[in-house]
Amino acid sequence: VTGDPEHGQQVWKKCAICHMMGPDARHRVGPVLNNIMSARAGGKTDYRYSKAMTAAGQDGLHWTEDTLDGFLQAPKSMVPRTKMSFRGLKSAGDRADVIAYIGLFSGG
Ligand code: HEM
Repeated sequence: VTGDPEHGQQVWKKCAICHMMGPDARHRVGPVLNNIMSARAGGKTDYRYSKAMTAAGQDGLHWTEDTLDGFLQAPKSMVPRTKMSFRGLKSAGDRADVIAYIGLFSGG
């Protein structure tokens, strides 16, 4: 992990409009992002994904530091027709930091 999770927590505020993590997290506009690292895209069984995200997961997309970096840079480029209405994070540093923060809620 190369990012700074402390700064990532600040970046996460942009995600927290739609997503939750942690023990009391519930699906909101977007799915809970606990344990997303190494998980198949579109894999939370009790969340209603777009057909696009479900298909991407069935086609083999899994979330790693690399694939998250690509998705967060330009969500609709990596997963056309995803219903995640987010322009993306232009700063590579912000992406690395928020990915490091998300990683704190995966595994363990
Ligand atoms: C899906 C991350 C911002 C709404 C996802 C997924 C990830 C993610 C990893 C895929 C989840 C899975 O496969 O189970 C993030 C991060 C954000 C962010 C790190 C901030 C940098 C947002 C915002 C919104 C949003 C601001 C709402 C405006 C959604 C929705 C989905 C989704 C609706 C489901 C997409 C679909 O089914 O096509 N997000 N997200 N996200 N996110 Fe975000």
